[in-house]
Amino acid sequence: MSKALLPGSYDPITVGHLDIIKRCSKMFDEVVVLIAKNAQKNYMLCSEKRATLVYDAVKELPNVKVDVFDGLLVEYAFHNNIDVTVKGIRNNADYQYEQNMAVTNEKLSQSLYCKSFETLFLQCSDSLSGVSSSLVRLILAKDGDLSNLVPNPELLKSTLK
Ligand code: PNS
Repeated sequence: MSKALLPGSYDPITVGHLDIIKRCSKMFDEVVVLIAKNAQKNYMLCSEKRATLVYDAVKELPNVKVDVFDGLLVEYAFHNNIDVTVKGIRNNADYQYEQNMAVTNEKLSQSLYCKSFETLFLQCSDSLSGVSSSLVRLILAKDGDLSNLVPNPELLKSTLK
């Protein structure tokens, strides 16, 4: 069975994330969306609230699971028998950032488990390349219209109350 891991902060999940999740769900037997911790970020939402929004967004996709994990990505992938991690790429800046993580994860996985860590980059759809969680947070702070940016604007707003 082919399994893919889609880790990220998802603070909050956007339509760009959901597009990558849907495309992966057609390519792999099982997809795990992992709400992980980026040590360099201060989050707007706690991991449980981020997970609630992701659960809601993927509820119609039977082969997509959601999980929350605080440790190293390589650790999660190893203990859950996941061989491929997929990262969505919007532009050069994303690629640079993700490439560094891919190289580090490969080194970590080799030293901890003597095992390869495969990172696959998936180009995001053209029309969604301007969408980001940080843009969503900015618009949210001004109570702007989020209908083209997040899967469920009402749920996101109620999560913040
Ligand atoms: O959406 P983000 O913030 O770009 O996601 C980054 C994330 C959470 C996937 C990354 O920080 C991560 O993998 N965190 C788990 C801890 C870990 O393994 N850190 C080493 C990565 S090189």
